[in-house]
Amino acid sequence: MSREYAIAVIDSGVGGLTVAKEVMRQLPEERILYVGDNARCPYGSKSPEEIRAFSFQMIDFVRQTPLKALVIACNTATAVVLDEAMAYLPLPVIGVIEPGARAAVQATKSGRIGVIGTETTIRTKAYERALLRAQPDLFVSGLACPDFVPLVENHLASSDKAREVVKETLAPLIREELDTLILGCTHYPLLAPIIQEVMGDRVRLINSAEETARELSSQIIAEAKSRNSVSIQPEHLFITSGDRDRFRSIAEEWLDCHVEVQHHSLEKSVEA
Ligand code: DGL
Repeated sequence: MSREYAIAVIDSGVGGLTVAKEVMRQLPEERILYVGDNARCPYGSKSPEEIRAFSFQMIDFVRQTPLKALVIACNTATAVVLDEAMAYLPLPVIGVIEPGARAAVQATKSGRIGVIGTETTIRTKAYERALLRAQPDLFVSGLACPDFVPLVENHLASSDKAREVVKETLAPLIREELDTLILGCTHYPLLAPIIQEVMGDRVRLINSAEETARELSSQIIAEAKSRNSVSIQPEHLFITSGDRDRFRSIAEEWLDCHVEVQHHSLEKSVEA
């Protein structure tokens, strides 16, 4: 692996590409090391112990390369391991929940905010806590959408099946008269056009990917830039524990560029 400093972006699968895309857009000179644990996706229905173990396997793998920062581009992993990862690594480590919550508080006018995410993210109430810390009088309605991630991982995000599943799943939220809906899973921006269609134009969708990249760019990179000179054309590296071809085809469609993908079995990388 290159010795050039990178920004590591980790996720349970392809969802973190939504964050990687934003990091590439906002910080075009930075090199990205992306790791997606597609072989064990979804994390959202797994126990906190498993999510913790898998997340630290990714962290131990990426820290073998010199890093400027680590982005935990998975809401589920952020909800479970962010504090521990921050204490573990001598680097800026950022998750996706606080930035998304902050953006939602800024966006809402009625104070009625919905949060959709995996079962674990919703069960931990991590978004609710972050939102109410920022503004205690908000109405917050959380909904787990366990069927969304498989649609994205199976490259079905634009299919009729996706439209059907999204419509049925989000039905309870339509009645809540929300004006803001947090896409509290990094896979969901890939379903955003359908989610917007189902929720209607009056509901503003918050993509935590954008907000996370903004936080990385505004708060962390200024400090981390001093670690090395920037590349003009960084060579990003994408690693999946799952099927390389499927990962490449989703990544190339979403990032709109050629993507080099390597396979790595994460279980075997644990040595720390
Ligand atoms: N992308 C992950 C998240 O943001 C969820 C996918 C999964 O369940 O693994 O929560």
